[in-house]
Amino acid sequence: MSKERLMRGVVCAALTLAASFGLWGRAARTSAQGPSQGDKPVEQTRKNIQVLKGLPESQLFAEMNFISASLGVQCGFCHVSQGKDAQGRTNWVWESDDKEEKKTARDMMRMVLSVNGGNFGLSRGEVTCYTCHRGQTHPQGMPALPLAASAHEPPPPGATPTPGADAHAEGAARAAQPTVQQVFDKYVAAVGAPAARDKFQTVVIKGTATASQGRTQNFEVTLKGNDKGLLSVEGPQGGAMRRAVSGTTGWMSGPRGARAFSPSELADARRGLDYFNVVKFAPAPTMRVAGRRKVGDRDAIVVVDRPSENVQRRYFFDAETGLLLRVVTLTDAILNQIPEQVDFEDYRDVDGVKLPFVVRVSAIDTFNSHTHTLTDVKHGVPVEDKLFDLPPAPPAPAATPKQ
Ligand code: HEC
Ligand code: HEC
Repeated sequence: MSKERLMRGVVCAALTLAASFGLWGRAARTSAQGPSQGDKPVEQTRKNIQVLKGLPESQLFAEMNFISASLGVQCGFCHVSQGKDAQGRTNWVWESDDKEEKKTARDMMRMVLSVNGGNFGLSRGEVTCYTCHRGQTHPQGMPALPLAASAHEPPPPGATPTPGADAHAEGAARAAQPTVQQVFDKYVAAVGAPAARDKFQTVVIKGTATASQGRTQNFEVTLKGNDKGLLSVEGPQGGAMRRAVSGTTGWMSGPRGARAFSPSELADARRGLDYFNVVKFAPAPTMRVAGRRKVGDRDAIVVVDRPSENVQRRYFFDAETGLLLRVVTLTDAILNQIPEQVDFEDYRDVDGVKLPFVVRVSAIDTFNSHTHTLTDVKHGVPVEDKLFDLPPAPPAPAATPKQ
């Protein structure tokens, strides 16, 4: 086999391995850990980039989805297409500038970059397309008359106070905020972790992951101690796809073999498995309590972290029960931050421990959003350490006899 063909084979195998994870693979690639290794800037991978120079290719589609969501439009609002291919998929001509809207969008991108980079006291990514557009192509510039409340007369009795009217009360509430350690202690007690520490040394979870376009996969997660986890997903043609972490190493395997993770893949896989741990959050010196917000109709305490230079993470804890409701990850990109949200819902009691039976991952690209629903949780079952070891390379395939 020529060297080139061999290389192509290796690259193909690696890609197929990632692709056959289906929704899990896509999710892993966009799970907001920042640009992946060896990620080229879009001006090298695309044909007609004039503004977004330096944006990593892995962030291009997330950025385009952010723009589409901000304006409440689909890709075709700015991009032209030419018929369909043999599989019935739209033939996009992404690089074409035939639509006026795309050219306007480019000017808007320049405006956003200069507003955030100018002397207006704004930092990068603070004003976004959404700040003005709010899901519409024509932003509203006028408040609707008649006004509901006057700006210069006292509010009628019983009216909700205007923001900023009672700065004193806000200051007092801030002073009464718990520390990160207190939030953590309450959370650990709420999930019942201390009492169950010994019983939950090993956990085996079964469930289903669903995503858009009717995609569904059964999965199984096996956890042991603090640092070992294995995710097993039903492959599209049967056969299991696996991703595992064990201490500082990790790997993925499928019908075509197994390979070790790169550092960024390892971080992604670890975070994915963390969703299923009894305790999903640990205090870090980089964390601070940032105030209160609503999550649905619940009052939540917000803990903010900056785990790396271009990633910001916000944890939302139920102010009353102490349970973790939501984790939002914001990854810096050129125009704005790219958001990803994980919601933990339907907490149920499993032998004294509270586990969320629904874990909902929402991405800016809805193709990458998916919901895990737990169907079965077992704990305290024997699990051998070697389950988490990189499987040995399969024996070289026997040469097929020529016919
Ligand atoms: C509001 C307008 C707008 C929408 C909506 C939009 N795009 Fe874009 N897109 C642009 C602009 C402007 C550029 C060029 C950016 C530059 O020059 O740096 C671009 C560039 C691209 C490119 C690179 C093209 C090349 O080869 O140079 C791709 C791919 C792309 N968009 C995909 C998408 C997808 C997928 C969607 C829908 C999810 C989408 N876009 C929605 C405005 C838009
Ligand atoms: C400071 C406010 C503001 C920001 C930020 C902003 N826009 Fe706009 N945008 C406008 C206004 C105002 C218009 C004109 C709307 C009209 O004609 O009614 C507009 C118009 C547009 C149009 C033309 C719509 C059409 O129907 O022809 C596009 C496309 C557009 N914006 C894209 C973007 C993109 C992409 C971003 C982010 C990179 C962005 N805008 C950020 C205010 C803003």
